[in-house]
Amino acid sequence: MTPSLSRTGTKFRTACERVRNDGERIALVPTMGALHEGHLALIRFARERADRVFVSIFVNPTQFGPTEDFEQYPRDIEGDLRLCQEAEVDRVFAPSVREMYSDDDLTRVRVAGLTEHLCGAGRPGHFEGVATVVAKLFGLAGPCTAVFGRKDYQQLKVIERMGRDLMLPVEVVGCPTVRESDGLALSSRNRYLSDEDRERVVVIPEALSAAVRAFERGERRAGVLSTPVAEAMAVAGLTPEYVTIADADQLHPLSDDTQIEERALLAVAARVGATRLIDNVVLGEDPAPIEDDEG
Ligand code: PAJ
Repeated sequence: MTPSLSRTGTKFRTACERVRNDGERIALVPTMGALHEGHLALIRFARERADRVFVSIFVNPTQFGPTEDFEQYPRDIEGDLRLCQEAEVDRVFAPSVREMYSDDDLTRVRVAGLTEHLCGAGRPGHFEGVATVVAKLFGLAGPCTAVFGRKDYQQLKVIERMGRDLMLPVEVVGCPTVRESDGLALSSRNRYLSDEDRERVVVIPEALSAAVRAFERGERRAGVLSTPVAEAMAVAGLTPEYVTIADADQLHPLSDDTQIEERALLAVAARVGATRLIDNVVLGEDPAPIEDDEG
């Protein structure tokens, strides 16, 4: 069945209230559209946790910096609606920019601390835009479960904290990263890659996998785990923006001589041509992005 479509916040809120009044649980999957298999995995993950799956599609202008790709960001609402239909999504919320940000909009949501490092350092204002739009979505949806991908690990942590600190009635859950067969994390931005760059970027999951295996073999020194990742990416012709080992909950970077205890985040961002890609693993928690052939 074609999913129902809400174009305004009021209609979306009413639809959510109706579902809850019928005693059904909602799982919300916020997206910026250009849906791919990663989003579809979130939708399936959501389906296991609720009676109704609602997907929002909104390219949020406030999370893009002035030099970033807001205008060029891929948009394909017809294709997205088709994919939502195939995935048996119950409702799509696809508001306009004006609907989410009225002319006299003054409020921004800022999560301190967690947004200082990693992507927060190179993209000032980005997480403020994310936290603001997700707070609006949570306000409209009301009590529900909301699903986010671990591919954007820092985003997941920021949203978890935002929901908790603002006492919003939303349970935030994280879904594992979905990857191509060669290990590359799926992303709407992968479509910008030339064939040659597409071959190069496999170094990211390869290097992360090598770090996971070194960790599993007992290596605990942060610098020894992260340095080869940065080197491999540079050798492959990528421009690393950061390769950071950080506390997996507070997200503060750990110095090279830190001995990791149980777990730590290894997060990377790199440019290849004009495209910026990010990926991560939580050492001590996540499997290697690429399985070891030798088992
Ligand atoms: P978008 O990039 O469209 O991603 C929507 C959701 O899909 C996010 O939770 C993201 O982490 C998840 N996702 C993307 N690629 C994934 C992959 N390969 N594996 C698992 N999950 C993946 O993230 C945003 O939109 C926006 O910032 C948003 C939260 C909607 C706020 O505007």
